[in-house]
Amino acid sequence: MTTTRPLIVGPEEPISPYPIKLKGEVVQGFGRGSKELGIPTANLSEDAIKTLCHDVNTGIYFGWAQINNNNNDNDNKDNKDNEYRVYPMVMSLGWNPYYKNEKRSAEVHIIHKFSEDFYGAELRVIVLGYVRPEKDYSSLDALIKDINLDISVALNSLDRTSYNTYKDDDFFLSDKS
Ligand SMILES: Cc1cc2nc3c(=O)[nH]c(=O)nc-3n(C[C@H](O)[C@H](O)[C@H](O)COP(=O)(O)O)c2cc1C
Repeated sequence: MTTTRPLIVGPEEPISPYPIKLKGEVVQGFGRGSKELGIPTANLSEDAIKTLCHDVNTGIYFGWAQINNNNNDNDNKDNKDNEYRVYPMVMSLGWNPYYKNEKRSAEVHIIHKFSEDFYGAELRVIVLGYVRPEKDYSSLDALIKDINLDISVALNSLDRTSYNTYKDDDFFLSDKS
């Protein structure tokens, strides 16, 4: 059976509890995101997850994200070019039923190809909407397909003026701050 999913989600502008703003350190996950899925994720620290979980259900969310690398290696051209950039993101909050995790995690996939990891960096996220609940899958392929669809849904949903404007929110650091 093929189920179709909407390619755009949420009302014309974010409504309560959104926007949800969180920041935290990028911590090590199980490392499966890059290796098994080809979809790297930045795992948020426990403290950041605590702020989030009071307000929202587990599931997949979309919004904007920024990485602020304190140990910025200024000789690294990629770091320099990406400083202060705000990227679209999809975030999975929950237990990863496919992998049967025993600990809840918040994993952010930033929709951009980075040349290196950023463990220890500060991650700032503005969550603007909900995409779907977490699911179990009969194959890794099915999980990867659904995540790729989540990415399209996030990009379509952010491409509306009232969502796009959060890219310039004061919560994100800028070269003016
Ligand atoms: C957008 C997105 C959607 C996801 N949806 C699911 C899901 O429905 N079910 C699930 O078990 N895991 C889901 N995941 C989590 C992946 O299984 C997880 O990122 C992977 O296990 C890598 O985790 P690790 O970096 O801690 O190893 C999703 C991840 C992302 C980024």
